[in-house]
Amino acid sequence: MISTMQQFSSCILLLLMILTAHNFIPANSENCNPDDKKALLQIKKQFGNPTQLSSWDPTTDCCNSTWLGVDCDNFTPTYRVTNLEFSDLNLPKPVHFPPSITNLPSLVDLSLTRIPNLVGPIPLSIANLTTLRYITITQTNISGEIPYTLSQIKTLVTIEFNYNKLIGPLLASLSTIPSLVGIGFNGNQLTGTIPESYGSFPPLFTGLLLSRNRLSGKIPASLGKLNLADLDLSRNMLEGDASMFFKSNILTYTISLAMNSFAFDIGKVGLSKDLNKLDIRNNKIYGRLPEGLANLRYLHKLNVSNNNLCGQIPSLRFDESCYAHNKCLCGSPLPACKT
Ligand SMILES: *[C@@H]1O[C@H](CO)[C@@H](O)[C@H](O)[C@H]1NC(C)=O
Ligand SMILES: *[C@@H]1O[C@H](CO)[C@@H](O)[C@H](O)[C@H]1NC(C)=O
Ligand SMILES: *[C@@H]1O[C@H](CO)[C@@H](O)[C@H](O)[C@H]1NC(C)=O
Ligand SMILES: *[C@@H]1O[C@H](CO)[C@@H](O)[C@H](O)[C@H]1NC(C)=O
Repeated sequence: MISTMQQFSSCILLLLMILTAHNFIPANSENCNPDDKKALLQIKKQFGNPTQLSSWDPTTDCCNSTWLGVDCDNFTPTYRVTNLEFSDLNLPKPVHFPPSITNLPSLVDLSLTRIPNLVGPIPLSIANLTTLRYITITQTNISGEIPYTLSQIKTLVTIEFNYNKLIGPLLASLSTIPSLVGIGFNGNQLTGTIPESYGSFPPLFTGLLLSRNRLSGKIPASLGKLNLADLDLSRNMLEGDASMFFKSNILTYTISLAMNSFAFDIGKVGLSKDLNKLDIRNNKIYGRLPEGLANLRYLHKLNVSNNNLCGQIPSLRFDESCYAHNKCLCGSPLPACKT
């Protein structure tokens, strides 16, 4: 009788041990923060459960590198999701920006690239991501205005919203983000002028990419304060002076002003010795080509065609199409200058 009781109680004890073990092992072996996991599973649902996210299995650890596009960092004592990066995501039907993305409070890098079925605006709640450093939303069907709350994220380093359907004006307050190094809004439908405040970007700001929009008006003189390594204003409706971007004493790789209505004398501008690419075609730019162009070691792309330029072409190795349709440019590869 007693031995049966003993056997029975040790059985219970064993059962209890197994049960407790079962309760503890999964909890301890998972790094994924439960709030982050909940947000991720909501994001999956908001994306319409795409098959590419089948690795997002609620029974596994979201931080063990098996969840596509998810990365975590160890913020002792806990892990948090810091990176969410998707490219070429095939969503079963058009969906809005998943609102639960803004419930990942430790996100540092958000990248959504080539997602044709991503539509609608970027939500104002994006500003909830107060530690975000890199935001990339490119080649999607995201529309609406650039959310004004974006400039509340003081940690941002780069903002890349290239090739979407954004409308409305450039956000003037972006210049108040203290660590910003570059913005890219190429290939949207942005309108209005370049804000005066863009002359006040922080010292490390080097990339201004605004090509293929509907921007108009003159460039504020304040932009002469910037030290840009890469400038692309091509394919807009901008006019007037753009000589403030040409400086000899800074590092500049690219200047593209092509296909606007810029009109200024290029004869006396400064040239960075690091210039790789100068594309000013299809404007109303006048004067002579600066002699210094011939001394630029890294210049591998030049196109000054379709302007009002005059005078002798400096000795360079670009073909005739790069100089064609000017007022009176002359010399090789165009016909010789008349003396
Ligand atoms: C991640 O978790 C799953 C499920 O628990 C497991 O099968 C896989 O081996 C784990 N991978 C790593 C790299 O730990
Ligand atoms: C926008 O949606 C259209 C229609 O679905 C699609 O053809 C196009 O590729 C999308 N654009 C981008 C940039 O994803
Ligand atoms: C997120 O943003 C929304 C809208 O801007 C705001 O109402 C909400 O309080 C924010 N949530 C958190 C957790 O900050
Ligand atoms: C220069 O631009 C003109 C258009 O103005 C274009 O026809 C020509 O092909 C370009 N040349 C090169 C080498 O890209």
